[in-house]
Amino acid sequence: MLQDQFQRKHDYLRISLTDSCNFRCSYCMPEEDIQSMPNAHLMQPDEIEAIAKKFVELGVKKIRLTGGEPLVRKEFTDIIHSLSKLPVELTLTSNGVLIDKHLESLKAADIRKVNISLDTLNKETFYKLTKRDQFEKVWENINLLLENNFRVKINVVALNGIIEKELLGFVQLTENLPLHVRFIEFMPFAGNLWNKDKVLTAAKMLEMVKERFIVSKLKDAPNDTAKAFQAAGHLGTFAFITTMSEHFCGTCNRMRITADGKMKNCLFGKEEMDILGALREGKDIEPLIRLSVWNKYAALGGQFSQDYTKAEADKIENRSMIKIGG
Ligand code: GTP
Ligand code: 5AD
Ligand code: SF4
Repeated sequence: MLQDQFQRKHDYLRISLTDSCNFRCSYCMPEEDIQSMPNAHLMQPDEIEAIAKKFVELGVKKIRLTGGEPLVRKEFTDIIHSLSKLPVELTLTSNGVLIDKHLESLKAADIRKVNISLDTLNKETFYKLTKRDQFEKVWENINLLLENNFRVKINVVALNGIIEKELLGFVQLTENLPLHVRFIEFMPFAGNLWNKDKVLTAAKMLEMVKERFIVSKLKDAPNDTAKAFQAAGHLGTFAFITTMSEHFCGTCNRMRITADGKMKNCLFGKEEMDILGALREGKDIEPLIRLSVWNKYAALGGQFSQDYTKAEADKIENRSMIKIGG
């Protein structure tokens, strides 16, 4: 069991498979990070398997594969095949565009829950955000997942100036589709030009939703990142990830490994533990994993407080989102 100084138990590992992506969303991938890491710097499939196996031995119950875009990693099928043999729930966060190509391998690896990042339902806005004309493909693939009985969540980053037009449309989607839409407060990472004025809080968004729909609060799972709601008579749900207005660090159970094998004990933690380096030197990685968890800050990587007093984007020391994995 991996426990930190605040008695939080860590049983959820997010593994980034690559820092490459086939989309170009600037809030995630700043210009300077378009160049991805050389393959030799990435964890190789056997290394991913060895690292995941160690975490599972230490009590991890859920592994989420992230990127960049995890489906662009050329060894993706081999990686999920080997991870599927571990006694752990395997899940995926993807931009959705390559899902049809991997549908059978996802099923074979028993991945049943997929989170898709989609910030708009408008084709033109989609192009502006991603610089790719792929809205229809992503939408087709969301439907493909639903037809194949995957549990699908849609991650919508609440981007000021865009979300106001999108919010009700996304909630409307949940009337007839069993989708779980989550609106994520915009968070600061290197190069993403975050500032406080760009954050539309969950409270504001909920107010807007309530003007149109009758909503009820649902019960959240103990370690959930999101606060869930449902509009009356709807099949699906909607939720808010409130990192910026009301963090959920007190129940955090999450750890991360970047594509280049560095362990981060927090999304906002600037400290990194070189797990891959140690593995390549033949060292035991367990003490490093334990130490990283133990050193975790109480909240938000110790980088800022909830009133953002220290949260000017240029003062936060961290990687860009694409190099962390979300
Ligand atoms: P579920 O397992 O379905 O609950 O998904 P998840 O929320 O753990 O993962 P996902 O990759 O879908 O992430 C959705 C959003 O939540 C992204 O913006 C993540 O950066 C954010 N998120 C995930 N884990 C954490 C966390 O530990 N802390 C914070 N602050 N945000 C997180
Ligand atoms: N703030 C909030 N969420 C973000 N994501 C990427 N960048 C940000 C940000 N700055 C989301 C993506 C993806 C998830 C892993 O993280 O939309 O769904
Ligand atoms: Fe956990 Fe850090 Fe996220 Fe808080 S910000 S929930 S401590 S990963």
